[in-house]
Amino acid sequence: MGIWTAFYALSFYLATLILIGGLAYKIYQYAKTPAPLKVPTMPAPLTTSGVVLRVLSEVVLFRSLFRANKWIWLFGMMFHGALWVVLLRHLRYFTEPVWSWVVLVQPFGKYGGFVMLIGLLGLLARRIFVERIRYISNPSDYLMLILLLVIGGSGVMMSFVLPTDIVQFKAFMLGVMYFDWQAIPTDSILLVHLAAVILLMIIFPISKLLHAPGVFFSPGRNQVDNSREKRHIAPWALKLETKESS
Ligand code: HEM
Repeated sequence: MGIWTAFYALSFYLATLILIGGLAYKIYQYAKTPAPLKVPTMPAPLTTSGVVLRVLSEVVLFRSLFRANKWIWLFGMMFHGALWVVLLRHLRYFTEPVWSWVVLVQPFGKYGGFVMLIGLLGLLARRIFVERIRYISNPSDYLMLILLLVIGGSGVMMSFVLPTDIVQFKAFMLGVMYFDWQAIPTDSILLVHLAAVILLMIIFPISKLLHAPGVFFSPGRNQVDNSREKRHIAPWALKLETKESS
């Protein structure tokens, strides 16, 4: 058993535990955080199904970003849209036999890597060249973009310039999943790609990338505009009210 195999296999286990445990904890925290006031961003939907549509249009189409800034919307869409296709293409490393729809996605995912990189470079350029954005950018804003660029860049390099031994790599990945370890190919570009992915998995639950689950809990977006029809009482106020009336 090579040292790289053991190192990457163990790191994958640790990163998966941190990612799933950390995300579950964060989502629990978001769900438990009180939203004492009715504060939907107006104009807001009047019904629950309207709210579902509103949140979906935010998540799928980035609707308010589109209204706010077309360039950021375009680069954001390119990155997130391509990311989905690339990740769906990746399912072939974790499944045997590979599902037929994953086979269909392959060419889109392969070239999607470039779209993802262009989107990321656009978002990075915005942080560097737009003064207002540069002023509010922290080191972590740049580092997240750079980490994603390293992942995307090394992935595209493997797909187009320095191919790795995909058959051996898939054996390693399936071995990690089924606790039957197989040797990992040791070309540096693959090791860089995987190390960056492992780092991303570990920092995800403490990073700005939490906006992904967080958007569903945004009171400005997920509340119904029904304050005239229904009295909104925060849970703590309800407790006081029932105490007083008893
Ligand atoms: C456990 C997770 C991951 C594994 C095992 C993995 C593995 C790989 C491998 C082996 C390739 C080369 C494909 C080929 O030669 O045909 C690749 C390509 C690529 N990876 Fe990953 N990767 C992972 C996660 C990610 C993530 C999270 C991203 C994006 C943030 C990403 C972005 C890419 C891109 C853009 C490419 C090039 C396009 C493609 O061939 O799909 N990867 N990845």
